[in-house]
Amino acid sequence: MKKKIIAANFKMNKTNEDIRKYFAVFLDLINGLKDKISAGDSDLDSELIFAPPFTSLCETLNIIEPYLDFIKLSSQNVYFEKSGAHTGEVSIDMIKSCGCDYAIIGHSERRNIFRESDELIGKKIGAVYNDGRIIPILCVGENLEIRKRNGQEKFVENQLAVGLNSVKGKSVSSLIVAYEPVWAIGTGMPIKADDGEAMHGFIYDYIKSGFSIGELRVIYGGSVTEANIEELMGKPHIDGVLVGGASLDPQSFYNIFKKGGRL
Ligand code: PGA
Repeated sequence: MKKKIIAANFKMNKTNEDIRKYFAVFLDLINGLKDKISAGDSDLDSELIFAPPFTSLCETLNIIEPYLDFIKLSSQNVYFEKSGAHTGEVSIDMIKSCGCDYAIIGHSERRNIFRESDELIGKKIGAVYNDGRIIPILCVGENLEIRKRNGQEKFVENQLAVGLNSVKGKSVSSLIVAYEPVWAIGTGMPIKADDGEAMHGFIYDYIKSGFSIGELRVIYGGSVTEANIEELMGKPHIDGVLVGGASLDPQSFYNIFKKGGRL
């Protein structure tokens, strides 16, 4: 069965000490559910993913080790080269050695602050696909000006076309697309669930037209909280969420997981 995704993106937040404090609380909350989940009495239909900063990947892995059957690790970025003179970058082997199963690629903050182009993001997707050990979470989404002139579909279509250029014709069954409209990120203004559903349906249709989609998942990000998670997850084409701000507090992220994961 295709699992829903509840993912936390810590962005540039939390030292290793903060991470230890966070998981002391979060795992305590999760312990109440762990037996239920392992015994199969829960209708858990979701994967729980954490994307801490690079500096805390290995620390997080050590802490979550006993929970790896249902808590997974993601990096917030990855470079396409295998090794060499690329100061400040991190390779697939490096994130893999800290236990990552996923990598966020092309987050709007990478695109806007660090000027990552669609072409660079496409190269990263290609490298991750060729390597085969990491599941990419490809982020796309329009800004407010584009949304105001109703240009979001064309814009996102182009991001997907260039981003997935190197995997043309292949199966994208393991791919996760995160639709994150820039105007909704960190603003407290999430998309209306119906508008989200419309964009997710569009993304499905577009990818279906050029790829074998298999178990493709399209998740939503942008001001997700425990107040809106249920409505968003109730939509047929919203396969999960990527949560920034509201994931930083363990109780709040646990509440999102509990409501969104239908426990
Ligand atoms: P937000 O961030 O939940 O704080 O809006 C989401 C994201 O950027 O992934």
